[in-house]
Amino acid sequence: MLYLKLLVLFPGLVAATQTPLPNSMHLSSSLARFPNHRVRIKQSSFCDPTYLDVDKGAKHLFFYFFESRKDPAKDDVIIWINGGPGCSSAMGLLMELGPCSIDMKNASSNGTIWNPYGWNQEANIFFLDQPQTIDTTEGAAKNVYTFISLFFESFPQFAGRALHLSGESYGGRYLPVFASEIYDQKQLAKAQGRQILNLQSVIIGNGITDISTLYPGRYEIECSIAALEVPFQSISACVRMKAALPRCQRLMRTSCIEQFDAIDCRAAVNFCDAELSTGMWASGRNVYDISKMCVGDGLCHEENGVITKYLSDPALRELLGVDPQATNFSSCSNSVGSLFNARLDKWAVPTQNYVANLLDRGIQILIYAGTYDWQCNWVANRMWVDKLEWSGQEAYAALEWADWGAGEVKQGTQGLLSFVTIRGAGHMISFFLFVGEFD
Ligand SMILES: *[C@@H]1O[C@H](CO)[C@@H](O)[C@H](O)[C@H]1NC(C)=O
Ligand SMILES: *[C@@H]1O[C@H](CO)[C@@H](O)[C@H](O)[C@H]1NC(C)=O
Ligand SMILES: *[C@@H]1O[C@H](CO)[C@@H](O)[C@H](O)[C@H]1NC(C)=O
Repeated sequence: MLYLKLLVLFPGLVAATQTPLPNSMHLSSSLARFPNHRVRIKQSSFCDPTYLDVDKGAKHLFFYFFESRKDPAKDDVIIWINGGPGCSSAMGLLMELGPCSIDMKNASSNGTIWNPYGWNQEANIFFLDQPQTIDTTEGAAKNVYTFISLFFESFPQFAGRALHLSGESYGGRYLPVFASEIYDQKQLAKAQGRQILNLQSVIIGNGITDISTLYPGRYEIECSIAALEVPFQSISACVRMKAALPRCQRLMRTSCIEQFDAIDCRAAVNFCDAELSTGMWASGRNVYDISKMCVGDGLCHEENGVITKYLSDPALRELLGVDPQATNFSSCSNSVGSLFNARLDKWAVPTQNYVANLLDRGIQILIYAGTYDWQCNWVANRMWVDKLEWSGQEAYAALEWADWGAGEVKQGTQGLLSFVTIRGAGHMISFFLFVGEFD
């Protein structure tokens, strides 16, 4: 089974000896099955030794790949994707789980500091950025599948290696769809005698998956003691929100969920946001961590501006192989966000059903959430996971919550589905995740 060790502080960890990268500086791969896609790879010294994509094709995906600090020849492969839609995985890399973190204290000579809790302590990891030209998650899934296939077929040393998809926020929508594409393609590959991808688990942090619990969850975070010991929202706002909630839920149910109608669903979302989200924005609190006030730009994190500046530095762009003609880095692409929004991608598809189907086919799912997030909060996640219809629903319901030291966990010994909370953490969490196997 999947063994999850979550360590918020783990000072004893040190890097194992670095093993040299197995391939030369530039590689390119083009498979006949994917005539419009190419992976070209450059090795660089960014953070830990890494590979970077330097292709400029239309269907190109930019990525960073870091080998495991432990045993790259044996360790699992993890793919990390930030949310948005359209946000760069460089944010997760430099703020949360990459081999180095953005230097917020001007303490380094090169703008980053070594991260002893990087997930590549124990696994080979990709940070994947999305292409600019896609407007739905289902469309993105095809691209991501192609990318992963190209990688595994270009680097035979990874063939058959356990693969995990991870991400946060809008990743709750992306990853179940991406994983389902990989699973369905696996059946096809088997039939055609091709190499298959050994997908084992999906790991989602503070995600948005089932829209039916989004607004009730936000109400709980603001107006109950689900997050803070004393709710921060005013009583008058909470009374108004509570009164609006049934109507919001009814509109969502009839226009987005039971039957999707783009115009009516957008009207429902507008009503729910007006009645249930304006109070939060008006409070000036950080929507990703309600214990703090919002600072910096729209993402409420000072790191955002620092990372944007760091990744716009010409010398670093050269190291990363960025096209000199390319525009400056932005943490989230507005154009991708607008394209997805125009399709109501977040609301149009019951993504939780992908999760149920994956579980019923033996793919492990871990949902984790920091309890101080408001956007994609832990209550909304607990609500949808509890009512998820799959073969293990009853067994999951029967499990007890246990304290794991820094939050609570619900995980059965034979269970495919696990839920972990991280007490007092926000939307973007730096913690150490170890994915391995029990004998
Ligand atoms: C910056 O220096 C630190 C300490 O030597 C190193 O761990 C880190 O990887 C370097 N950052 C980059 C981007 O190369
Ligand atoms: C960072 O530190 C260097 C010297 O260590 C100094 O010259 C520079 O002005 C500092 N930058 C900021 C933004 O504080
Ligand atoms: C891009 O970033 C560089 C370095 O921070 C800055 O000098 C330049 O003005 C920026 N360009 C644009 C178009 O914002």
